Amino acid sequence: MLIDSIKEAARLAGDIMVSAVRPKIMEKSGHANFCTETDEKIQAFLIEKLTGILPEASFLGEEDGQDVFTSKMENGYCFVIDPIDGTSNFIYEYHPSVVSIALLKDGRPFIAVIYDPYDNMMFSAQAGGGAFLNGERIMSGDAPLSESLSVFGTAPYYTDLLDTTFDKAKKLMPLCVDIRRSGTAAWDMCCVAMGRCSLYFEMKIQLWDYAAAALIATEAGCTVTDCEGKPLSYRGGSSAYCTARGVDRTDPALAAIFPCREQNV
Ligand code: IPD
Ligand code: CA
Repeated sequence: MLIDSIKEAARLAGDIMVSAVRPKIMEKSGHANFCTETDEKIQAFLIEKLTGILPEASFLGEEDGQDVFTSKMENGYCFVIDPIDGTSNFIYEYHPSVVSIALLKDGRPFIAVIYDPYDNMMFSAQAGGGAFLNGERIMSGDAPLSESLSVFGTAPYYTDLLDTTFDKAKKLMPLCVDIRRSGTAAWDMCCVAMGRCSLYFEMKIQLWDYAAAALIATEAGCTVTDCEGKPLSYRGGSSAYCTARGVDRTDPALAAIFPCREQNV
């Protein structure tokens, strides 16, 4: 099956990640935005491997100049890949970091695979077919926000969003048990999908950070939108707001932070 071949590619990409030794580090535009030679190596590996699996597919990837979304990608198959989501974690050996692969079909999420090679956790989903962790079905939690952890991303490359980000985190704090920051957006949404926490938000992330994770979360019963409650775009960057089944988005205190329109991906 297509999804099994994609999982196998992600597993092999994860092997490259964990076996890297002191990779060269390059700086990209934005605050403390890095790429390592391992990011590039994994991306090149995935493009070769996935082309073998689905030759007609186009690619959008975080590294190596593959990062520009074109309207051509809205037709037919398009792989959206993040070779290492959590590059700073990877550089500082602050786990996790994950391999993220989404396959869009006519611009909509169709298959998603996210692999954490450090804990051997393989998340996968197919549109309408449920979400899985290492082959077992997962569902997001049904506990209310007041009994759950939240997680957020700092949108680290966009310093103009710092105040908004931390203002929302500050308002969210009293509504939940506590707040976490992992360093990988894809992993954060998988944590909501598997029930470790109930809410994730970030003011700006790129399609390769969220395309796979949003499908996995949706298939696990989460609601995934942008931070204004609007449907996520599959054409480029966006804010992201992902809540588990138990979170009442219409709760006035929460809706004051994240407007509620209740639409899914
Ligand atoms: C980043 C991570 C991080 C999130 C950033 C992303 P990268 O991706 O997902 O958690 O806060 O917004 O860009 O650069 O490590 O692949
Ligand atoms: Ca990323």
